[in-house]
Amino acid sequence: MAANKTLTMIKPDAVRNGHIGAILNQITEAGFQISAMKLTQLSLADAEAFYSVHKERPFFGELVEFMTSGPIVAAILEKDNAVEDFRTLIGSTNPAEAAEGTIRARFATSIGENAVHGSDSDENAQIEGDFHFAGREQF
Ligand code: CMP
Repeated sequence: MAANKTLTMIKPDAVRNGHIGAILNQITEAGFQISAMKLTQLSLADAEAFYSVHKERPFFGELVEFMTSGPIVAAILEKDNAVEDFRTLIGSTNPAEAAEGTIRARFATSIGENAVHGSDSDENAQIEGDFHFAGREQF
């Protein structure tokens, strides 16, 4: 059976702070395979579209401003049970509540600047992967 997929972004804070290598290492050590990856920067329209589900939230403006503030690494990851296992690996949205050793506990600074994104469902993993990658960029 084919492995499941999830979409991650290493966010601008973690890229700025030099954590790309350490985060990718933790991801691959945990058994995820990278089937697409790029360094890119979201435009305002990109970020508003990607996070449209959050557009009524009070933090939406802050979220869009932060996510467009510098380059990100976007990647599609594959593993059995990818969505749930990756959310366990990254830890809670708020790094103050993230379990010790998780990516957010190690590298995030706040609930807004929380180092990494992980898809919340198989359906959204597919939508988010296709948002970032053309078919010929997905392996
Ligand atoms: P993520 O789960 O990747 O996608 C939605 C993002 O919204 C989330 O990460 C946080 O970075 C951000 N977010 C969630 N709650 C808050 C909040 N209370 N204040 C600021 N940003 C938030």
